[in-house]
Amino acid sequence: MADERDEIRARIDIVELVGREIHLTQQGKTWKGLCPFHQDKNPSFTVSRQTGRYKCWSCGESGDIFNWVMKRQNVEFADALRTLAKEAGVTLASRGTPVPPSVRQAQEGAMDETLTFFREHLAKSTMAREYCERRGLDEETLKTWEIGYAPEVSGALAVHLKKKGFTLAECKKLFLVEEDSQGGYFDKFRGRLMFPIRDEKGALVAFGGRLLGDGVPKYINSSDTDLYRKSKVLYGMSRARHNFGKDRRAVLVEGYLDVIACHRAGVGSALASLGTSLSEDHAKLLKRWVEEVVILYDSDSAGQKAADRAVSILSAEGLRVRVALMPSGEDPDTLLRNAGPAAVQQAVETGLSPVDYKMQALELKRPQMAAEQFWNTAVQLLADAPNEMELDRHLLRLAGQYPGITDVSRAQQALRREVNKIRTRSQDKKVEQAPTVRAFQPKQLQGELSSAELVVFRAFLSPEYRRSGWMFARSRDLFESALAIRISDAITQAFPGAAPEGEPAVWLHQFQQEEMRQIISDLLLDVRADHLTETYIADTVELLKQKREKRQLRQIRKGNLDTAKRQEYLLKLREHKPDALKKQQSDDSLLD
Ligand code: UTP
Ligand code: MN
Repeated sequence: MADERDEIRARIDIVELVGREIHLTQQGKTWKGLCPFHQDKNPSFTVSRQTGRYKCWSCGESGDIFNWVMKRQNVEFADALRTLAKEAGVTLASRGTPVPPSVRQAQEGAMDETLTFFREHLAKSTMAREYCERRGLDEETLKTWEIGYAPEVSGALAVHLKKKGFTLAECKKLFLVEEDSQGGYFDKFRGRLMFPIRDEKGALVAFGGRLLGDGVPKYINSSDTDLYRKSKVLYGMSRARHNFGKDRRAVLVEGYLDVIACHRAGVGSALASLGTSLSEDHAKLLKRWVEEVVILYDSDSAGQKAADRAVSILSAEGLRVRVALMPSGEDPDTLLRNAGPAAVQQAVETGLSPVDYKMQALELKRPQMAAEQFWNTAVQLLADAPNEMELDRHLLRLAGQYPGITDVSRAQQALRREVNKIRTRSQDKKVEQAPTVRAFQPKQLQGELSSAELVVFRAFLSPEYRRSGWMFARSRDLFESALAIRISDAITQAFPGAAPEGEPAVWLHQFQQEEMRQIISDLLLDVRADHLTETYIADTVELLKQKREKRQLRQIRKGNLDTAKRQEYLLKLREHKPDALKKQQSDDSLLD
């Protein structure tokens, strides 16, 4: 198989292949042109005969001849291989799935027969038909989506398939029947409403079945088979793919019935991943057809989490994403029944950009958050804003609330600086790609230091309180978090005798490690005015001391200290907190 590919690569000139579609000019060893994958103004697309690959330095798109054909013709690898093999004059051995045509034919036959069986049983089962009626699935919908019913009787399908001449051992591989310990076969789906799953070409590849009532599992879905890769199939795709329209937009929903409801409501571009969360493969599939995906998930926390995931997976694939969460407690299926088709259409139209959506979610959580946490998260979020307009809109809205700065335009500037800081840093990270120095994450910095610890280091960094800050920062045992202890050690090492003087730019290099310089710069760039005063610092240090005593007492009680340490702690504690030691003293000879 790999030989065939190599053979084809050897016979096809990538420069010629790409050159058929875009104008290329030679520059040294490579060929350059305007990138066909994004709006390119300067030629940033390069093709190399030497490596057999293309790459756009601007949008990052890259690959070999097979990727090129897959991308440009919107086809799967197998199709690209066939196309290029033909062109190269390479004969392909039987390939793709190593299933001989006769077996494949039998498999397809078994699937079709099973669908007919389910359809007939729906017609026969009053219970199933009543269920459909309750759920608002009318005759036409049942027909369009070929919905069926798997009867309760175990083995009904197995018997039927056998009678029709299918080998049950083969049907087992298709997730239709299962073998029992006596070598007999029983049905995989029993007492379930059946949804046939068709791939992009409309071939029947799998089934999903829903219990008529409550119970678990609510749905059973075919696992992967010769015919079916669930990471490559989306429910509804064979229909939706004709409805993406000139906007090239798809609507992603959570479940079978949501897909059906959307299509019924006039949103014919709806599809869903099946019994699995959205995968990178799904995103790639969508990328072949559409430019934008509207995520229409449940608004519960599970739905929100799934939406967050989907946003990153889809964006990573270069798709434009909007998030349109359902009204609370609804999914498209219930919304259609409760509020009609217009409500479903409207839900799709109210999709927010990921930044707006995340901001909205953050605002909802804000009452439960510490102010500092809120601002950190907000700034982090805004750094992802795709354009200045969107960023400005949020900055303007948030500036009036920014703590410590009353002047709105100054607050806006301060916020923007924060955002830029994060942007520059992630930019640097991308450009740099030097894994030797771990790029420091500001978010981490805030999370790893307690606010009291931060106060001490901010004091050290402010020219006014540098001296006391320096003193306290060097008391290693005041600190609890690993990062604070590292900073404390670094300060002690860099400035053993006296506090540094003047601008940080002058003395920052005295920290030996690059990472520590970065950490200190991060702390320095923090614009949150802390209203430091001597008393505030002293109070904070007092708090840290109390915490330290508690820590030390805990360690003494645990009894895992060496003698010298134990004595040191006990003496300190006796000095500061005689009460805390009363219980300890009675059984402690060391103190005498
Ligand atoms: P939901 O629990 O939201 O179900 O699961 P639903 O689609 O709204 O179905 P109804 O309205 O209760 O009948 C969403 C999707 O997650 C998958 C199915 O694809 C389902 O459509 N799922 C859910 C499973 O695969 N297995 C389960 O047990 C539950
Ligand atoms: Mn539902």
